[in-house]
Amino acid sequence: MKSIENLISDNTKLALTSLYNVPADGVNVTIQPTRKEFEGDFTVTAFAFTPLSKKNPEQTAKELGEYLKREVAEIEDYNVIKGFLNLSIDKGYWIDFLKKSWNNKEYGIAKPAEGANTIMVEYSSPNTNKPLHLGHVRNNLIGSSISRILEAAGNKVIKVNLVNDRGIHICKSMLAWKKWGGGETPESSGMKGDHLVGKYYVVFDKNLKAELKALMEKGLSEEDAEKQSTLMNEIREMLLKWEAGDKESIELWNKMNGWVYAGFDVTYKMLGVSFDKIYYESKTYLLGKEMVAEGLKKGVFFKKPDGSVWIDLTADGLDEKVLLRSDGTSVYMTQDLGTAVSRAEEFHFNGLVYIVGNEQEYHFKVLFLILKKLGYTWANGCFHLSYGMVELPDGKMKSREGTVVDADDLMNEMIKTAEETTKALGKIENFESEEAAKLYKTIGLGALKYFILKVDPKKKMLFNPKESIDFEGNTGPFLQYTYARICSLLRKATDLNYTASVNVNDIIKKEKELIIKVYEFNKVIKEAAATYSPALVANYVYELVKEYNQYYHDYSVLKEENAELRSLRIALSQQVGIVIHNAMWLLGIDVPERM
Ligand code: ARG
Repeated sequence: MKSIENLISDNTKLALTSLYNVPADGVNVTIQPTRKEFEGDFTVTAFAFTPLSKKNPEQTAKELGEYLKREVAEIEDYNVIKGFLNLSIDKGYWIDFLKKSWNNKEYGIAKPAEGANTIMVEYSSPNTNKPLHLGHVRNNLIGSSISRILEAAGNKVIKVNLVNDRGIHICKSMLAWKKWGGGETPESSGMKGDHLVGKYYVVFDKNLKAELKALMEKGLSEEDAEKQSTLMNEIREMLLKWEAGDKESIELWNKMNGWVYAGFDVTYKMLGVSFDKIYYESKTYLLGKEMVAEGLKKGVFFKKPDGSVWIDLTADGLDEKVLLRSDGTSVYMTQDLGTAVSRAEEFHFNGLVYIVGNEQEYHFKVLFLILKKLGYTWANGCFHLSYGMVELPDGKMKSREGTVVDADDLMNEMIKTAEETTKALGKIENFESEEAAKLYKTIGLGALKYFILKVDPKKKMLFNPKESIDFEGNTGPFLQYTYARICSLLRKATDLNYTASVNVNDIIKKEKELIIKVYEFNKVIKEAAATYSPALVANYVYELVKEYNQYYHDYSVLKEENAELRSLRIALSQQVGIVIHNAMWLLGIDVPERM
């Protein structure tokens, strides 16, 4: 079955050739869904054809419309508004489409074909000195959803995480634990490992601040205080020892990072995200050094008298960037250069998407530019998906340090709110407690994920827990509820021995519109993949659900007496259910069968 876009496009080209005697193979036919206020299903823009027709857009559209209606069986009518040609597609086409797709549980979710593009998606990428917070939640949700969307659009996807497990910050937690920890462990304290390590990071910070304050009160400048601080000197020494492979430092480092990973695993599992490969900066931080030599040889980098290595990007409107310090140590950028090259060598990807907050926009601009200057053509496929900040309304769910919102606290809080809301609405009276607990988790996390993903990643946003758990409006629970209602309808149909089938010759307008909405799912996935925006999927499924609910409200399904019509309505409901399920899956959101 030809897609409707190809059908319209191919026949429009034929029409142009036949009407105006011109070759039209290379012509680009723009097709959009017809705006709600006009008659028609798809609209072709005629403005671009006027050089071929040598007539005004309106006249051109009319002549094309007349041709298409006469020559193409599937196009039953047309009208022209200014230069826009609105086409009505025959119901038979949509009935056929539904017939072919309605019982396919995988609808919309393509499997990567032989020779598909490989896209690597890097997301999460936390540091091991503290637990995950609200910003990471947005990062993980976007990364995980984009990965599924890219895959559904036909790509092979490799999900990776780059854990920053080394450096000054983790030494801070280590030193504080050594000094003031008294041997505390996750087991002895009952704390999650990442929270325990985070606690010592905060302890270090408090003590350092106190020391610096005391030094500055003696008249030292901030810079001198940092230099003279015993704690800072101990940290620097610890880092040097770690880099030199000192056994005791490495052991402590391994132990504490192990605690953190166990904690991260719990959070990732709860969030429902996973990775195909985890990179550790302790293994990658020396990688870029060879590239420094390569860049010097190619004349892309230059050396300063003190021995440090730089790249001059002033001609590109940026500044000079250091890649190797005078003491021979490398920087964040050097590491990222090396990591990117090693990934390209291992996976031969066509694209590499970094899901990283917008405060690192400059870093990635420079990174991609350097890679291109070094001659790596795959760098053209690198993309920084730069997402905005996410905040909570003041005073809500502040974590133990009183500064950031902890991911575990947030999720638990959401599940609790889901429980309260569900009970208050009296939605589940006869659930076993286990099923109820599962439902609260589904609703709580669904609300959180949907609220965050329905916003375009690039925009900053305010996450409002109360609003997100509303059972009405553009929320996760509203969509979940519609899905559960469709499941209940299908169960009742089974009980009544009603079958689903598509065996009709005619459908009403509302049904045709619903089928077209279902049809659009594939296009939405492609667009969401091309623009890295799960928000397109979220808003699409909301539109679909709104239209379905209205249909369900206006027409009876199970009470319809005409058996064929009833069967069609059951099949259509089932198909809408499948699309909701699969769209929500792309967002990483579970849907309940009962609610
Ligand atoms: N760990 C870094 C941070 O928390 C983010 C790493 C982003 N990824 C990258 N390849 N640079 O700021």
